[in-house]
Amino acid sequence: MSVIKVALGDRSYDVVIEQGAFSHPGDHLARYARSSRLVVVTDAHVAAAQLERISSGLMSAGVAVEPIILPAGEGTKSWAHLAGLVDHMLRLGVERADHVVALGGGVIGDLVGFATAILKRGCNFIQLPTTLLAQVDSSVGGKTAINTPEGKNLVGAFHQPALVLIDPDTLDTLPAREVRAGYAEVVKYGLIDDAEFFRWCMANGERLLAGEPDARLYAIEKSIGAKAAIVADDELETTGRRALLNLGHTFGHALEAESGYSDKLHHGEAVAAGMALAFRYSARLGLCPAEDALHVETHLAGVGLPNGLASAGVKASGEALVAHMLHDKKMTAGTLPFLLARGIGQTFLSKNVDLDDVAAFLNEERAAGL
Ligand SMILES: NC(=O)c1ccc[n+]([C@@H]2O[C@H](COP(=O)([O-])OP(=O)(O)OC[C@H]3O[C@@H](n4cnc5c(N)ncnc54)[C@H](O)[C@@H]3O)[C@@H](O)[C@H]2O)c1
Ligand SMILES: [Zn+2]
Repeated sequence: MSVIKVALGDRSYDVVIEQGAFSHPGDHLARYARSSRLVVVTDAHVAAAQLERISSGLMSAGVAVEPIILPAGEGTKSWAHLAGLVDHMLRLGVERADHVVALGGGVIGDLVGFATAILKRGCNFIQLPTTLLAQVDSSVGGKTAINTPEGKNLVGAFHQPALVLIDPDTLDTLPAREVRAGYAEVVKYGLIDDAEFFRWCMANGERLLAGEPDARLYAIEKSIGAKAAIVADDELETTGRRALLNLGHTFGHALEAESGYSDKLHHGEAVAAGMALAFRYSARLGLCPAEDALHVETHLAGVGLPNGLASAGVKASGEALVAHMLHDKKMTAGTLPFLLARGIGQTFLSKNVDLDDVAAFLNEERAAGL
């Protein structure tokens, strides 16, 4: 078992990573029950795959689970489901001092995080992330949100969990495509500021995706360690350090938007393609050695992730993709912050990127069939 602390003063909390933890959840969670009860919010897929283990484990520790099971999928991060969830929790008598458990991927974590941020002006919640993406990224850091017709994650709050409990064994039931998409966010930490970890990914990524427990555990610990340090340094994304976590996301969000946020391209897949594009664009600007960009695209392709427009299945023009970027919430007064790299492990935030040049670059990529 390893414990990584997210140091945020009186909002500090532990991320506990333990293989097999979900087989004895009472050891970690029983102390958060009130009147021997815990409300557990999950989605239908996770309920089928993981809820029984949690419920019976808690039952044997004397805690009854009150499950709330929502539909699976990004559509659940909506006003309608937020309202339904808050009303349901109120009917169950959830109080400010209570701890509501979010059992699932980023969708459930984001929705429950936001619902508990506003329920009675804020109650506690606990993250039990069950996707690789959630175990290395979304469960830590306190960003919560829903989507609206105007775009993704446009309504939300910063609300830190009281505990994050990760059992990598839950990945055994996660579809391989979801594991691979989450792996893109693992690679991201190496590319941001840890070249040695990127080398580890090149050597061990395939073992991780094959389900080797030691590789999964190491990648989760390294990723959470990196995220916890960044969040502790810049909780509200004001100094720019937390923005580094958006590497590949400006390109990636444009690709996701172009694909209609559909099953054609999952978030992690878009981020993989976006990171490769960010490195090739950095190389084109003369900021980053071409060899580094090549390492990035080769590794991503090697594990079966997209590494450009063609493999992401996006045929749109550079201008159309830049239009999506301008719609992105990170735009401030005409300048678009862009994450570029001076090499692997040397990502930085550039504030003066010429969007016409980005469109020209994307058109070149498209013409080259990349
Ligand atoms: N808050 C943040 O900091 C942050 C960061 C990154 C992403 N996000 C958000 O996270 C969301 C994506 O999260 P995600 O990729 O985890 O998607 P998800 O929650 O939709 O999970 C993916 C799919 O896997 C299923 N599933 C989850 N765990 C399973 C398991 N162990 N076994 C079987 N099936 C399982 C789910 O039901 C779903 O169908 C997006 O909405 C994104 O905006 C938030
Ligand atoms: Zn992401």
